Amino acid sequence: MKALETRNLRKYFGNVRAVDGVSIHVDQGEIVSLVGPNGAGKTTLLNLISGLIKPDSGEVYLMGEDITGKSPNQLVSKGLARCFQISNVFEDLTVLENLLVAIHSISGTISMTKRLDDSEAVEKAMKILKEFNLDVKAHLTPKELSHGDRKLLDVAIAYSLNPKVILLDEPTAAMSYREKKTTVGVIKKLRDQLRVTVLLVEHDLDVVYEVSDRIVVMHQGQILSVGTPEEVREDPKVKEVYLG
Ligand SMILES: Nc1ncnc2c1ncn2[C@@H]1O[C@H](COP(=O)(O)OP(=O)(O)OP(=O)(O)O)[C@@H](O)[C@H]1O
Ligand SMILES: [Mg+2]
Repeated sequence: MKALETRNLRKYFGNVRAVDGVSIHVDQGEIVSLVGPNGAGKTTLLNLISGLIKPDSGEVYLMGEDITGKSPNQLVSKGLARCFQISNVFEDLTVLENLLVAIHSISGTISMTKRLDDSEAVEKAMKILKEFNLDVKAHLTPKELSHGDRKLLDVAIAYSLNPKVILLDEPTAAMSYREKKTTVGVIKKLRDQLRVTVLLVEHDLDVVYEVSDRIVVMHQGQILSVGTPEEVREDPKVKEVYLG
């Protein structure tokens, strides 16, 4: 089952062909990484999928449903959550309060779900924080967290929205080796224990090779190569773009 699919997606900015006819899919339960040099169109593709910008043409499907052009909020309620290249947490709230805002935002907007009362919401938030090893930091503000923990908080917030699919944009950017190892564990946990499908943009190829079921390589707005880590690693076209 395809959890996420794009068909011939296109977005030009003036004469910049940021995303130029991209068809990809992510099967349910997969971790797919999107890689490519700076300016390849990776973030633009995530923006198109998550509804932040609208495509010039082409379609996006979530669990088989055409979601093209829907707003990020509509997509969250359909099960698509994302983290940004630049973290967007509330700086003046604690870690726990950041989670509570996210949890209330969905329990309040999905009409079929009853709004959680405060103690239920706190219980849910603490359970999620524990999954991301942030429970002991629940009462700190984001400023008091390490860079790695801030990024984990982003992922925890996205996860608290009950997603079927999570989009991550450079989750390990600027992390130390140790922080990267933790994040790799968390990404695998999303797939293996929390049963979330993951599409991630990532520059660190060690991370990409370790977590990915499949890799999509973008270059100049187009798909250059798709395959398992082994297949992509051996693809001469990919070597050319990365080395040449
Ligand atoms: N809002 C915009 N207006 C104009 N041009 C844009 C806009 N957003 C992206 N671009 C251009 O589209 C191309 C793709 O950019 P994008 O940010 O998607 O690349 P990326 O693969 O995410 O790069 P990076 O690895 O540096 O994050 C680039 O040439 C970029 O300058
Ligand atoms: Mg980017």
